[in-house]
Amino acid sequence: MKANCTWPRGPACPELTENSLHIWCVSLEVDKTRLHRLKGLLSEDELKRADAYHFERHRRRYIVCRGQLRKILASYIECSTTSIEFQYGDQGKPDLAVGQTTAKTKFNVSKSEELALIAVTNAGEVGVDVEHLRPVPDATNLAQRYFAVSEVETLLSVPNSLHARTFLEIWTRKEAFIKATGQGLSYPLNQFAVSAAHTGPMVTVKLFQDSAQSEHWHLVSISPSKDVLAAVAICGTSPQITCWRCPN
Ligand SMILES: CC(C)(COP(=O)(O)OP(=O)(O)OC[C@H]1O[C@@H](n2cnc3c(N)ncnc32)[C@H](O)[C@@H]1OP(=O)(O)O)[C@@H](O)C(=O)NCCC(=O)NCCS
Repeated sequence: MKANCTWPRGPACPELTENSLHIWCVSLEVDKTRLHRLKGLLSEDELKRADAYHFERHRRRYIVCRGQLRKILASYIECSTTSIEFQYGDQGKPDLAVGQTTAKTKFNVSKSEELALIAVTNAGEVGVDVEHLRPVPDATNLAQRYFAVSEVETLLSVPNSLHARTFLEIWTRKEAFIKATGQGLSYPLNQFAVSAAHTGPMVTVKLFQDSAQSEHWHLVSISPSKDVLAAVAICGTSPQITCWRCPN
């Protein structure tokens, strides 16, 4: 599935002003020459990880995404693409290694088919999730099994024709949140609820165990093209969001 991103082409030297959040849309479809160039930017451990993919297309997508992530981060932190170093949280969330940047630059990545989104910010911990709009035949079962009660109610309240879209809207919002926390799917999905799709792009999150924390979270739905749904979550002040297409 191609990445038909409608966002404007991003600048070569982006600047993060206070409380800004930049979202880059990256096409993972590249020719062999470009793939080779991007592969040359990866570290030993990233090359090992790439080699572990069974399918060639998964390997290519990982290499292109990591290569582009390095290029994008280097354009913010004045560092060469190959000297960027990552560190990883307990559940695998990548972060810039300590000492790589004086500013609090945070990022997160999500891939769906031939498209990746890379969120970069100085506003707080960030998480992003992207999904292609597609049929989800078992949406109700999945929601009843994993979602909070209010989210299941939202899903059951929409007509069948909107089931898949509503499920994926809720899903991207929930996944953006658990990725921002760094816990990923080890965070129980029924322990928090995101607000319903029809309430607009600004979304609220309600944390059942720690409701006072809820107000620190900002969730926004974004869409790089009409067949792609995405959401970004950030812990901190409500950020100024700018969306760009990554020049290939
Ligand atoms: C994070 C997670 C929700 C990603 O789900 P997904 O829909 O398959 O993948 P996405 O494309 O949206 O995101 C993948 C990217 O998220 C980032 N990521 C990985 N772990 C993450 C975490 N715990 N929190 C936030 N982001 C994470 C990485 O950049 C990854 O890209 P990469 O594979 O190219 O390195 C899921 O993998 C998860 O819950 N992982 C944590 C649990 C786990 O597997 N732990 C293993 C111990 S290290």
